[in-house]
Amino acid sequence: MEAIVYEEFGGPDVLRPAQVEDVHAGPGQIRVEVRAAGVNPVDHKIRNGWMEAAFPTRLPATPGSEFAGVVDETGRGVTEFAVGDEVLGRSTTGAYAAYVLADVGAVAPKPEALGWPEAAALPVATATAARVLDELAVAAGETLLVHGASGAVGSAAVQLAAARGATVVGTASPANHDYLRVLGAVPVAYGEGLVDRVREAAPQGVAAVFDVAGKGALADSVELRGGTDRITTIADPDAAHHGVAFSAGGGSLPDEGRRLAEYAEAAAVGGLRIPVERTFPLREAARAQELSEAGHVRGKLVLLPGER
Ligand SMILES: NC(=O)c1ccc[n+]([C@@H]2O[C@H](COP(=O)([O-])OP(=O)(O)OC[C@H]3O[C@@H](n4cnc5c(N)ncnc54)[C@H](OP(=O)(O)O)[C@@H]3O)[C@@H](O)[C@H]2O)c1
Repeated sequence: MEAIVYEEFGGPDVLRPAQVEDVHAGPGQIRVEVRAAGVNPVDHKIRNGWMEAAFPTRLPATPGSEFAGVVDETGRGVTEFAVGDEVLGRSTTGAYAAYVLADVGAVAPKPEALGWPEAAALPVATATAARVLDELAVAAGETLLVHGASGAVGSAAVQLAAARGATVVGTASPANHDYLRVLGAVPVAYGEGLVDRVREAAPQGVAAVFDVAGKGALADSVELRGGTDRITTIADPDAAHHGVAFSAGGGSLPDEGRRLAEYAEAAAVGGLRIPVERTFPLREAARAQELSEAGHVRGKLVLLPGER
């Protein structure tokens, strides 16, 4: 089958299209013909060799962990999905490929009204955001500060927290402030002077902080909270130094399939939006990762294996 592979760690130029061994569904798994695959920052971090301590990678490797597509093979014991079903989810094999394998617990039906790219944009962003909001126990009436609110996980976090009844203050560059208002957040610029700007935007104080961006906002977060509790980062390697929680786990989420189905239904009727900034043919994965690595994507980048 066609897939994007890399045989050594390095920059985007190590990625190339190749023919690789077909994959087949094991017990509890489905094989899916990929129509769209989401690009995540962790894909380039792994490709650069930066994640070896956490996720050792056997080379050659295929990047990617989320997809939308059509079930074309079911493994032993699978009753939840059948060949021909349209689905989205998190994969156990690289999703920058014509086919992926997925455990049925990490898959949900794709509503007909949801496009392929929009479906592939959901799994990691929504599951990560939901997991951290649960860990932070964000509740109605509270104020949540989200660092990095205009990216994929941030966009999901703003909307899911607002849906819980929280007030959300979100950081982004000024170009993304109107976008954040539409999502339901009070926008604030990141960088020098952040503490004062957040205090002005939220004179009531912030009850919890979700650091999505991981770009050095933890000291300011501790100052704003007056302590280290209810501050979680998913990307700042200095978490332990600041005494705050680091939430690992990629897109894993308890009861993942059911909750992903709920988010997909909401997205299909416009109640949840992870906008797709741009799509690329699968063979242009290197360009997509380059753009992702530059760090200023609004929403999501998506690869389309069927596009030439
Ligand atoms: N631990 C986990 O389980 C887990 C799971 C998923 C993701 N992650 C990590 O979480 C991070 C975010 O993922 P993502 O998919 O949301 O990334 P993304 O979509 O690529 O994020 C891009 C966004 O980051 C914003 N940004 C850039 N610099 C910023 C800064 N200094 N302060 C605030 N925002 C800034 C940009 O806004 P502007 O363009 O306005 O600057 C842009 O909209 C990545 O490092 C990823 O690897 C971790």
